Amino acid sequence: MTRIVHVRSLDPALYEDERTVLLSAGMIRACRLAADSTVKFRFGSASCEGLVRTAAAPAASPGEELGLHPELARRLGIRGGCRLSLVYQPSAATLYAGPLVGVLLSRLYPSQEMPFGSMTAFCRELGKAGEEAGVSLFFFSPEEMHTFPDLAGLYFDGEWRKGVFPVPHVIYNRLTSRKYENKPEVQHFLKAVQLRHQTRIFNDKYLDKNAVFSALGGEASLRDCLPESHPFSNYHMLKAMSGRHPVLFIKPASGSLGKGIFRLHVREDGSCEVRFSALSGTVALHYPDLFEAYSHMAGKIRTQAYQIQEGLDLMTIGGRPVDFRALVQRDGDGEWVLSSIVARIAAEQHFVSNLARGGTMTAVQEALAGSSLASRKGSIQRTLKSTALTVAQAIGSNVKGTFGELGVDLALDAAGRVKLLEVNSKPSREEFSLPSASDEALARPSVRRLLEYAVYLAGFM
Ligand SMILES: Nc1ncnc2c1ncn2[C@@H]1O[C@H](COP(=O)(O)OP(=O)(O)O)[C@@H](O)[C@H]1O
Ligand SMILES: [Mg+2]
Repeated sequence: MTRIVHVRSLDPALYEDERTVLLSAGMIRACRLAADSTVKFRFGSASCEGLVRTAAAPAASPGEELGLHPELARRLGIRGGCRLSLVYQPSAATLYAGPLVGVLLSRLYPSQEMPFGSMTAFCRELGKAGEEAGVSLFFFSPEEMHTFPDLAGLYFDGEWRKGVFPVPHVIYNRLTSRKYENKPEVQHFLKAVQLRHQTRIFNDKYLDKNAVFSALGGEASLRDCLPESHPFSNYHMLKAMSGRHPVLFIKPASGSLGKGIFRLHVREDGSCEVRFSALSGTVALHYPDLFEAYSHMAGKIRTQAYQIQEGLDLMTIGGRPVDFRALVQRDGDGEWVLSSIVARIAAEQHFVSNLARGGTMTAVQEALAGSSLASRKGSIQRTLKSTALTVAQAIGSNVKGTFGELGVDLALDAAGRVKLLEVNSKPSREEFSLPSASDEALARPSVRRLLEYAVYLAGFM
């Protein structure tokens, strides 16, 4: 039996005591509570004494209700009108309400319509899905951390409203840059909530391209889909790699959005072409030999960690390289499942397919049908899906950290073999949403699954 209740907290005169917690007789039984008992009532880190009282059966209520004295609701940070779940733990005489999930974003903007900038639509979808699932959600940023252990934030209730919340059961980390993530106050806050309040944090850090490949290197089942990749060290390694692969990709280990990537092509006569994906577009330069090419790249490569990777001969459509991006998520049982997979076609004159570099998105089926691999599209599609899952499972078990969703970038070489390009722990939602006829009013399955995982992490089952 589901123990989701609708919170009502109206007229103080309805309650005999400031600590009153009103529940139906059925709900009291379902939670294994005793009528008229005194419990510790908790919502996230907030805790108050509650007196459980049986509510008179309401005339025509559509669902179960939790009646709270407004003072009790205020002290716990529970707002009237929301839906949440109840779990009673007899050994601790504690009634838990929740789960309360905090979504941590880089910043909040002073705008009623777009308080989270380009993330606003996704946050609204999350807020609605939370309401459906009985999950309390609020949205905050590093700016709000100084009010800890009370956290100011925004919540969605038809429109964006301000509220104050206790430390949540779960934090979904959507900080979109390492700059924010590495701030001492952010690190301190995240450590403190885990230690003091047992808050579970997911997608708690960025993945480094070198760390990903070293974590996956030992997985026998993935051996055939890992292009040769190493942390970039020096000219000698570059020379050795170029002896094995005519095309090499040299990427910032902590980069994203197809930014700052070198593509080096060593021709048979030893001359080199270096293409570089800059913000402004692709730049191509030619050098008489590898050492000259290296000297040109060295200025950049010395400033941060890079990965050097075998360049793959990617499947193309109309001469443009194509790759694939899978969204793999953990479900309400903590198991990895594939939520979606789309193909991305690089823009004209580009060697990276990222949407941020003008790439376009299309259905996998369609991309394959238009390629030289059309006759094998069924089996290739199955392999793409199973590889994405295996990669996510392997990251989940080999990399320290809690990941609820991963974006897995895959490629097909011209022979139709599936290869891993990289794994993202902060997949951008826009990368996966093909326009569909689905009902705008409903949250996408991937958004609902995210919340199911949060419920699982919070232990609200
Ligand atoms: N080894 C490779 N061979 C061919 N193309 C590649 C390779 N690595 C990356 N690319 C292209 O560059 C894009 C960006 O690379 P990726 O590793 O995903 O870095 P980012 O973190 O910047 O997205 C890929 O989506 C793909 O189009
Ligand atoms: Mg990528």
